Amino acid sequence: MSFKVAVVGATGNVGREMLNILEERGFPVSEVVALASRRSQGTEVSFGDRTLKVKALDQYDFSDTDICVMSAGGNVSKEWSPKIGKQGCVVIDNSSAFRYDQDVPLIVPEVNPDAISLFTRKNIIANPNCSTAQLVVALKPLHDFATIKRVVVATYQSVSGAGKEGMDELFTQTRAVFVADQVDVKKFTKRIAFNVIPHIDVFLDDGFTKEEWKMVAETKKMLDPKIKLTATCVRVPVFIGHSEAVNIEFEKPITADEARDILRDAPGCQVLDKREDGGYITPLESAGEDATFISRIREDSTVDNGLSMWVVSDNLRKGAALNAVQIAELLVERGLIQPKKKAA
Ligand SMILES: NC(=O)c1ccc[n+]([C@@H]2O[C@H](COP(=O)([O-])OP(=O)(O)OC[C@H]3O[C@@H](n4cnc5c(N)ncnc54)[C@H](OP(=O)(O)O)[C@@H]3O)[C@@H](O)[C@H]2O)c1
Repeated sequence: MSFKVAVVGATGNVGREMLNILEERGFPVSEVVALASRRSQGTEVSFGDRTLKVKALDQYDFSDTDICVMSAGGNVSKEWSPKIGKQGCVVIDNSSAFRYDQDVPLIVPEVNPDAISLFTRKNIIANPNCSTAQLVVALKPLHDFATIKRVVVATYQSVSGAGKEGMDELFTQTRAVFVADQVDVKKFTKRIAFNVIPHIDVFLDDGFTKEEWKMVAETKKMLDPKIKLTATCVRVPVFIGHSEAVNIEFEKPITADEARDILRDAPGCQVLDKREDGGYITPLESAGEDATFISRIREDSTVDNGLSMWVVSDNLRKGAALNAVQIAELLVERGLIQPKKKAA
């Protein structure tokens, strides 16, 4: 059994990673189609050792395509995902366009796989925000053991989370600083090279940013609506890999040793936690990896049943493309999707 898969946004950061991961994990494809805007029509992207010519999304007919992984931003998704879904093609969307829609499941396979069955309502499944995906992978097993009451998280998010323009801006600004050239600010609100910016996505009325709100809403939707969470999201001059300093208050007691053992056995988690120089993960080492890495696990005696930890993952993989491919795998494993075209 194999599936015709369309990758929308195939020329972008997430789309390219999506093609890599589909190939690496041997997802059963009969055909892969690379789609982007008309600007990229005819350009080439790699899929394993094959080269795919990019087609324009607005000229493509989805009627014989089984799965569409969409990573072209919220506006493109709002316009296209419902139309594609109505053509009987299951959309796995990376944008925030449908994440909070009650008729669209928001899925991290290690956390809430059973919610996927809701997808038939709109033929759309949402992928969470990158900073939430890695967080809930680490929180879920601890919540099962000791019930989380409250989480305080500060993120250190890489520029690739802002697309290929974000990566280009860090590169060109860094070079400009070194050659004493003029530093232009376009994508970010302030210079990102040799700086950190406490602002991701738009400001809301209460002073939080939309990125911070997303972490709250998505954790509640996927893990438990009773969990209280407050976030400060910060952009840092790192190309790939989001890091999070996480403080958790539990209902029941849990020691750092217990948390370490639980996380060692938990799906998608890898513990790297030695109390010595270099005995922890940094975003550089997470790039290209699938795991959510957890380090610096320690008890916080300033609250009852408190723990602090450091959570790092490749935002283009677990935060986006890998999670989307895992969702596609879940559809296949559970027999929730059949190929439209039978193999000859
Ligand atoms: N980066 C992350 O860590 C991350 C994590 C989770 C979710 N996401 C989400 O994933 C999406 C893509 O992010 P990205 O980082 O890959 O951005 P990106 O590098 O800027 O790529 C954007 C992609 O969208 C395509 N696109 C733009 N307008 C289009 C249109 N009108 N029709 C068809 N395709 C169009 C672009 O094609 P052209 O090359 O033709 O312009 C490009 O392939 C966003 O919704 C983002 O929020 C990103």
